[in-house]
Amino acid sequence: MYSVSKLTEYSASALERASAELRSALAQEAVAVKNEAEWKIFRDRWMARKNGVLTQINDLWLKAAPKEAKREAGREVNLVKEQVEQAVAAAKIQSQIPTLPIAHAGSEPSEVEFQGKAFEKAGLVDITLPGIRRPIGAEHPVIKTMNEIVSVFQKLGYSVAEGPVVETDYYNFEALNFPPNHPARDTQDTLFIAGQAAKPPRERLLLRTHTSPVQIRTMEKMRPPIRIVIPGQVHRNDPPDASHSPMFHQVEGLAVDTNITFSDLKGTLDHAMKALFGSSVKTHFRPSFFPFTEPSAEMFVSCFICGGSGTRGAEPCRPCKQTGWIEILGCGMVDPNVFDFVKDKGYDPRKVSGFAFGMGADRIALLKYGVDDIQLFFQGDVRFLQQFA
Ligand code: DAH
Repeated sequence: MYSVSKLTEYSASALERASAELRSALAQEAVAVKNEAEWKIFRDRWMARKNGVLTQINDLWLKAAPKEAKREAGREVNLVKEQVEQAVAAAKIQSQIPTLPIAHAGSEPSEVEFQGKAFEKAGLVDITLPGIRRPIGAEHPVIKTMNEIVSVFQKLGYSVAEGPVVETDYYNFEALNFPPNHPARDTQDTLFIAGQAAKPPRERLLLRTHTSPVQIRTMEKMRPPIRIVIPGQVHRNDPPDASHSPMFHQVEGLAVDTNITFSDLKGTLDHAMKALFGSSVKTHFRPSFFPFTEPSAEMFVSCFICGGSGTRGAEPCRPCKQTGWIEILGCGMVDPNVFDFVKDKGYDPRKVSGFAFGMGADRIALLKYGVDDIQLFFQGDVRFLQQFA
């Protein structure tokens, strides 16, 4: 059994050696404590005012130290005192836990570390306590909305395509019929990757501003007929506010075949909106402009919040700004100039035609869930996100 001995030397290493020996004894005796009676004996042996180990080291290490070594010895004794107190407190808790054998799964260590010392795990585990709960994750509301949109189109026979978020100027703009320096590029608030000046303009990298580049990428790989939906992340240099985020999500669509007409576009999108927002919503198309579609349109759905009336009781309806209509997407017939970029892949504008559309998934999620600030989607606050689980 360990007993405190007088120090013959007070160098830092001698002090350290003496206290290491003490600590090892402390650890060994602490693990042996199995019940309250044993714990009391253990506590008294180490902490009793009269002749406990702590009292002894106070006398033999500190009081006996020569003047010039008092400081060092005092520090070491204080440290040891703290460790003894902690070990005694821990042993008390351990002595109250029923000793239960635990089945160790193969490689699991049978020891735990406590104060730099290894302790047997058995006896430290109370299997009657509730386990550690790991909360199950859930789909993010924006991803959930994207998946819902995608599945509406999958049921119509569309397949899913994806493309890179870091895109070249060629796919994001040029092949979509945005000529270099065309003012339509300015509407996209593009974030460019730095240090690209040495590259030819069409190879310069940027964060895609829309999912439309995947139209070209897919047509390069697949011959017509095609029907695809493209969910994904996009970026624009927009300052964040309640309805803007520099990062957001779109779902794009493209159908190319022989004899695709504007009525196919209208019929498909009308069906999709009824599937998404309820069979009573109406759709409405207004002429618009996009470089890659001709003709182009913006599609509105009748406000599913106020039923198209523009008011909610006596209150004005905010989501539709009292108009009764909500703008949902941009669409149009694929511009023949776009087909020209993939002509050698079977997209001869004289033989095929197609329609395309693109919608903001975050905006749809805001409307669907009645959330009034897009920032909430991306701040990662579990209290907010949990509501959609
Ligand atoms: N890419 C457009 C945007 O982000 C949205 C869009 C409009 C996509 C018309 C289309 C389309 O495919 O045909 O503003």
